[in-house]
Amino acid sequence: MNAEKKQLLDRTYTIFKQLCFYDYPIDRSKEYLIEKIMGYGTHVDEKIFGIQSFNDLLQLQRDQSVGLEMSVKERPVFESFMANGDAVVLVDEILISMKTEGNEMSINCRLTTVMEFTDEQWKVVHFHGSLATGNEGDMDTWSVNELKERNKELERKVAERTEELRISFENLKAAQAQLIQSEKMASLGELTAGIAHEIQNPLNFVNNFAEVSHELIDEMNEELDKGELEEAKAIGLDVKQNLEKINHHGKRADAIVKGMLQHSRTSTGQKEPTDINALADEYLRLAYHGLRAKDKSFNATLNTEFDEQIGEINLVSQDIGRVILNLITNAFYVVDEKKKSGIENYEPLVAVRTKKNGKNIEIEVSDNGNGIPERVLDKIFQPFFTTKPTGQGTGLGLSLSYDIVKMHKGDLKVKTEKGKGTTFTIKLPLD
Ligand SMILES: Nc1ncnc2c1ncn2[C@@H]1O[C@H](COP(=O)(O)OP(=O)(O)OP(=O)(O)O)[C@@H](O)[C@H]1O
Ligand SMILES: [Mg+2]
Repeated sequence: MNAEKKQLLDRTYTIFKQLCFYDYPIDRSKEYLIEKIMGYGTHVDEKIFGIQSFNDLLQLQRDQSVGLEMSVKERPVFESFMANGDAVVLVDEILISMKTEGNEMSINCRLTTVMEFTDEQWKVVHFHGSLATGNEGDMDTWSVNELKERNKELERKVAERTEELRISFENLKAAQAQLIQSEKMASLGELTAGIAHEIQNPLNFVNNFAEVSHELIDEMNEELDKGELEEAKAIGLDVKQNLEKINHHGKRADAIVKGMLQHSRTSTGQKEPTDINALADEYLRLAYHGLRAKDKSFNATLNTEFDEQIGEINLVSQDIGRVILNLITNAFYVVDEKKKSGIENYEPLVAVRTKKNGKNIEIEVSDNGNGIPERVLDKIFQPFFTTKPTGQGTGLGLSLSYDIVKMHKGDLKVKTEKGKGTTFTIKLPLD
């Protein structure tokens, strides 16, 4: 190759590098590149097709390096001519250092350039800039090791998060179990107050009849002393009747206590034939007296409408009892609130209705409270949702009720009208 052609090559190559790394005027690039130049920058998305996109890339590069103190070191590493000497591949290693506000950074770049000699001049046909960083030497051409490391790190993080999630899930489960327990205790508390009231009644009878009988025996003795046998016998009959009454009321108290024990026992989950009407009636009265025991001012009209055709149906009576109690307690709460808000001529009303409806039975609990606002209606069955002031409700009542009804393959539905009231319907299959 003649010296002139070699000189021309060196000059063109130097200018090309000045275009790329220094400030040779961009608009003169066309003198040194073929029209259809193709090249790769150091980023995956830097692909050059034609002079215009080459110029755009340079412009962007220069805009971005404004204010940077740049210095470039070039080191030629490879030069190879094609057989006819009209094409050449050149490789340089280029170290670019940049400084900005005390931060220093350097880029180690490899530039591969292919040039062609036509019409007595050299022009760049192709170039490829690649970064020599990121790869861990010969053994890691594709950064595979780094990728593996990153995967390991990810796996470690996932395991860590999973463990964290497991722990908070366990905590949540424990907290929920505790809340469910306290919800049970709360409804037990409500019941106990009602039960105390219920027991009071037969106990009063028992005490009164016992006292009266005590006096009657004294009278009988007096009559006997006087020799009035007929009188004494008549008094003896009265005493016998009293003893029967005492026995009757004693049994009633006994039944109530048994019921209480049944409620406090955790559910056995055993279904048993149950008189739904009696169950609803019992829980309505218990809830009412329970509330009255806590708040003497509470009052509400109770309406019951029981379908006598129902008969006994198979269910876990304690659980369904709890559902009815929850619904009635909610109803009492809202009518009481409405009453306390001072609406004129408002009479709190809570009604419990049972109905046989084809293959189902329905238990309805309705109130004439203010209804459930639209925006909370789809949340009321969620655990812990409550609109009651803190400390007054756990928000588990309806969610537990829903679960219990679902366990009986039934349905719990709500209908509500703003300002007018709400009706909850428990639907249970007769099966
Ligand atoms: N009869 C009703 N009328 C109006 N709103 C109701 C009625 N029943 C339930 N709600 C609404 O649904 C919410 C959730 O009821 P739920 O029985 O699940 O919990 P709670 O009564 O707030 O608390 P808890 O039952 O634990 O005492 C209530 O806070 C209330 O906003
Ligand atoms: Mg409730």
